[in-house]
Amino acid sequence: MSLQKSTILVTGGAGYIGSHAVLALHQAGYEVIILDNLVYGHRDLVENVLQVELIEGDIEDRQLLDHTFKTHHIDAVMHFSAYTYVGESVTNPDKYYRNNVLGTLTLLEAMREADINKFVFSSTCATYGVPKFIPLTEDHPQNPINPYGTTKLMVEQILADFDIAYGLKSVRFRYFNAAGANPDGLLGEDHNPESHLIPLVLQTALGKREYISIFGTDYDTADGTCIRDYIHVSDLADAHVLGLEYLLQGGESEVFNLGNGNGFSVNEVITAAQEVTGINIPVKECDRRLGDSPVLIGSSEKAKNILNWQPKYTSIQEIVAHAWRWHQKRHK
Ligand SMILES: NC(=O)c1ccc[n+]([C@@H]2O[C@H](COP(=O)([O-])OP(=O)(O)OC[C@H]3O[C@@H](n4cnc5c(N)ncnc54)[C@H](O)[C@@H]3O)[C@@H](O)[C@H]2O)c1
Repeated sequence: MSLQKSTILVTGGAGYIGSHAVLALHQAGYEVIILDNLVYGHRDLVENVLQVELIEGDIEDRQLLDHTFKTHHIDAVMHFSAYTYVGESVTNPDKYYRNNVLGTLTLLEAMREADINKFVFSSTCATYGVPKFIPLTEDHPQNPINPYGTTKLMVEQILADFDIAYGLKSVRFRYFNAAGANPDGLLGEDHNPESHLIPLVLQTALGKREYISIFGTDYDTADGTCIRDYIHVSDLADAHVLGLEYLLQGGESEVFNLGNGNGFSVNEVITAAQEVTGINIPVKECDRRLGDSPVLIGSSEKAKNILNWQPKYTSIQEIVAHAWRWHQKRHK
């Protein structure tokens, strides 16, 4: 089978990371179908930019899934759809277990029925919990400290069991902080509500927020603010194409971190944003938030070695510059 003739169902393909993956798949020659309920996704980006088939529906809708798998020849599924707000997962865990775990189980059952046995999954560094060592490697213990992270760990476990029992082959990607935007300005981050640092900083630069809050300035880091690993969303998308090809070529189930390998502090991100935008960005120093680790940096050596993945955009200035191009266009 020619890989480029394969058809991939992308759940959550109208969202931030999923839309970048759809673009990368499309550019690599794959047929792509998006399944998204548009709760957080963007129809206009699918229709005007991606221009692939959109099935508007929910992964919990088993009838829709069965119909989709009967009427399309799907070779593999890339699964981005989930709820992703850590704070909300603490106050509304039912919503998270239902969508992220039961929804995924429904999807996997429908795939099994339809004999589709290749699956690429969006997991997260939040499954590791409080780091015992840095950089985090894939064999770091997984002890999530919030329901969001637990839902992702539960799916990882389901996938491991489905491989043993039913031969489902999966690539589980544990992302660090997805950031940036398509370098050509076609796509970008548009979460509502927004909870990620770089878009919040840029919204402040655009005058949409009064100031950017810095939670904790007394951490044991060089400038006292938290350090995170920001991975460019287009590099994430490229890794998904490679992970898919690994499975289509008969690869065994695997788990890979996807990170930049370099950490940047909150202050460094704000400084980069001021340099890129040329705008002075007001900040407000606040107390630490419960549960924030001082430093989270991942090792992605395994993805580089096995998938031959090489992130292209690793400087924080470049990541912020791409995000800024998108923000100026989208959020003016
Ligand atoms: N953004 C990050 O930094 C990050 C980090 C680690 C992991 N992840 C994971 O990556 C994936 C994508 O994240 P994102 O930032 O692009 O989020 P997003 O909210 O932009 O995209 C998720 C998409 O899934 C859709 N969706 C949600 N529930 C659905 C359902 N039941 N049926 C059909 N569609 C549904 C939404 O409408 C949205 O388009 C998520 O699984 C998330 O947990 C993201």
